[in-house]
Amino acid sequence: MSNHHVCPWWLAYTFDNQLRRLIHNPGKILSAYVKEGMTVIDIGCGMGFFTLGLAELVGDTGMVIAVDLQQQMLDIMVKRATGKGLAHRIIPHRANPTAIGVTTPVDFGLAFWMIHEVPVPALLFKEVAAILKPAAKLLYAEPAFHVPAGKYNDILAVAEKTGLSMNMSLAIRFSRAALLENKTRGCFSGYPHSSAPTAS
Ligand SMILES: C[S@@+](CC[C@H](N)C(=O)[O-])C[C@H]1O[C@@H](n2cnc3c(N)ncnc32)[C@H](O)[C@@H]1O
Repeated sequence: MSNHHVCPWWLAYTFDNQLRRLIHNPGKILSAYVKEGMTVIDIGCGMGFFTLGLAELVGDTGMVIAVDLQQQMLDIMVKRATGKGLAHRIIPHRANPTAIGVTTPVDFGLAFWMIHEVPVPALLFKEVAAILKPAAKLLYAEPAFHVPAGKYNDILAVAEKTGLSMNMSLAIRFSRAALLENKTRGCFSGYPHSSAPTAS
């Protein structure tokens, strides 16, 4: 299903820049789901285009777990966050190709333009399903110019099998996107926000 091609860190500059803000405004895309004090995860955060927006939305009482395969992406993301005074709200976390490796329960997850690069999407979705708190959502988006509808629907079917089903389809420019929810909804129901453990 996946071509396993991972976006090289230097190529990310072509789509993570000020121009992109005109088509993808992180605040506009995320503010309906992300509130102050939340613990959220940005999977495949790249250079932090959405990580910084998430950090602004969760405030000083919240936390963003920013996950990427590539250390260069995480380093650039941290540098940018430091420049904006947001680094203290972000926990960078290096994943490996088949495991995110985060067990912290989260109130919201973002997987933007990245699942098509993951060798076994089912493994990633299973991990996400296990950490989404009840009622938490995963915003899943793929670049429409790179991921055809058939492949996108195949990935949605994989997500469904792991317990993440479509809540609604989302209109995000140049993207195929959906809000997914954990239909099992049983996991980690015992954690209030304030006592959530920190990222591993
Ligand atoms: C096309 S970039 C998108 C970055 C960011 N989400 C954005 O929209 O600007 C995809 C990112 O996903 C990361 N990635 C690919 N496979 C991954 C995996 N299995 N786990 C974590 N990150 C991964 C890549 O290193 C790259 O930074």
